[in-house]
Amino acid sequence: MKKIGLPLSICLPLVAAPAPAADVAAGKAMVESFCSACHGINGISASPAFPNLAGQKEDYLRNALTAYRDGTRKAPIMNNMVAGLADTDIANVAAYLASLKRCE
Ligand code: HEC
Repeated sequence: MKKIGLPLSICLPLVAAPAPAADVAAGKAMVESFCSACHGINGISASPAFPNLAGQKEDYLRNALTAYRDGTRKAPIMNNMVAGLADTDIANVAAYLASLKRCE
């Protein structure tokens, strides 16, 4: 009987994937589609009713968005806006907004 060799890769232990880096391009696309009407295309809002987000600290943005999504920070507009976002979406959006030049 012929011996069938197994591909080597099957014998190697699985290596845990490192946490993926935030995808800034995906964050940009999301901000342009869903957030720019209020927060501006470059994260600088045209209206005093909406905060500027450009250049805000990444951790702060991530925490704020997570709190809106989970309802621990209440602002009906934002609670609705981010209700369906996954942690990865929030991380991507936060990374993109943090990368923008802030208003001076
Ligand atoms: C319909 C208008 C509107 C849209 C669209 C909108 N926002 Fe907001 N956003 C607001 C308002 C109003 C506030 C202030 C709410 C408050 O008082 O907490 C806010 C607050 C925020 C804050 C907190 C800022 C701070 O200084 O604490 C973040 C972060 C934010 N929005 C991100 C986003 C993102 C990301 C999107 C797109 C997924 C988005 N917003 C879409 C109106 C909007």
